[in-house]
Amino acid sequence: MSKRKKLLSEAMDVLEQSIVYHEGRPIGCVAAQDDEQEQVNYDQVFVRDFAVAGLAFLLQGQTKIVRNFLREVLHLQNHKVVKSCFQPAAGAMPVSFKVVKQNGSEEVVADYGEKAIGRVAPVDAVLWWLLLLRAYDKTADDADFVKADDTQAGIRAILDLLLQPRFDMFPTLFVPDGSFMIDRRLGVYGHPLDIQVLFFTALRAARELLIDGDTNNAYRQSAAERLGHLKRFIGTQYWLDTARLNELYRTDVEGYGVNAKNPLNVYPDTIPEWLLNWLPNDGGFFVGNLGPGRMDFRFFTAGNLLAGITNLSTEAQQRSVLATIEAHWDNLVGDMPMKVCYPALEGRDWQVLTGSDPKNRPWSYQNAGGWPFLLWLLAAACVDAERNDLLHKALDAAEPHIRDDGWQEYYDGTRNRLIGRESKAFQTWTAAGYIIACNLLEKPRTISLL
Ligand code: GLC
Repeated sequence: MSKRKKLLSEAMDVLEQSIVYHEGRPIGCVAAQDDEQEQVNYDQVFVRDFAVAGLAFLLQGQTKIVRNFLREVLHLQNHKVVKSCFQPAAGAMPVSFKVVKQNGSEEVVADYGEKAIGRVAPVDAVLWWLLLLRAYDKTADDADFVKADDTQAGIRAILDLLLQPRFDMFPTLFVPDGSFMIDRRLGVYGHPLDIQVLFFTALRAARELLIDGDTNNAYRQSAAERLGHLKRFIGTQYWLDTARLNELYRTDVEGYGVNAKNPLNVYPDTIPEWLLNWLPNDGGFFVGNLGPGRMDFRFFTAGNLLAGITNLSTEAQQRSVLATIEAHWDNLVGDMPMKVCYPALEGRDWQVLTGSDPKNRPWSYQNAGGWPFLLWLLAAACVDAERNDLLHKALDAAEPHIRDDGWQEYYDGTRNRLIGRESKAFQTWTAAGYIIACNLLEKPRTISLL
């Protein structure tokens, strides 16, 4: 058996062993199975983590667990219109859930953010659910599932939640800090790229999955309209290459009216020094966040990679993102693909923007730590852009130690060389990310799932 096949089969074992059952049916996977570290809530099924695990199951032809998971989360979706700030909004889905056994019976108990550290409600759960639903629909021979009344109502409830007007003048979605994969304070409040790209992906999925009919057509039309605005806005305003950097550097400020060239009034002095010589000539990327007077110039991996796969970006932009990653391979990929964002917040920025969070100290965890699960997105982007050379290089970096280290959750240091101080071993989406990467390399056409 080749080394890769052996690793792959061990990754599958990690995935299988993480399965959670409810009344005998597989309904998801725990986030991690680390016997040595305190579990906190890693013994729960996280919706975002299972979206990755679910894709891995689908690629292995295992559709049942994905169906059960989708159904379970649909049941947990809040369908009541509430006016209380302590209850999840109508249409919202939980960040995680667990099966609690008591007096011989089992109950599924969900967390909508009311128990989570920092008490943040997840914005991304509904987005991941839609993405996985579409992948399920494309893989399983089960068109009835998506067409069922309750599934269609669930999709509409999500759109009601996402598309309602708020106190905001942008097509992007306004979210609190820590409401997605980065679930602690990291200065990612406002309009973070990772969420905007997922939002775009989810709207595309919803538009595709809603069946024809008068009610649904109105929803599809609203989704289509928002998609157009999002694509234009993110594709131009978030995009940064050398030409645009030059423009920003010399930009006009304090412009009033609809024709202002710098409508968000971003001052050139906010361009950080590290960026001035960082962008390669053929490179470019989408900045991490954009709002009034604010451009977060950090590179956020998930949004940048997903933008290419889901056609939010142009092919040229996708190539430029990969060229940027290639040019800064040691920093962004290093010994374990790959950094969640770059660079780290340090010094006073770290104090102010993370609330002096020791778990998110510079070059650790979400503050520019390395997360092996992101291998799935890197793989998808490479396969989509026909840059398999980069994918081979990434697997060559990961394979010598991903299993021997124990399928770790995250890595620390500027080059992802050290196992994260509080990293969990046998992290389910680390194994799933590896499975997806290997599958995409072997069967590039399965990219259509995404
Ligand atoms: C951490 C991650 C979060 C993930 C959870 C479970 O809190 O930041 O994104 O869902 O662990 O793995």
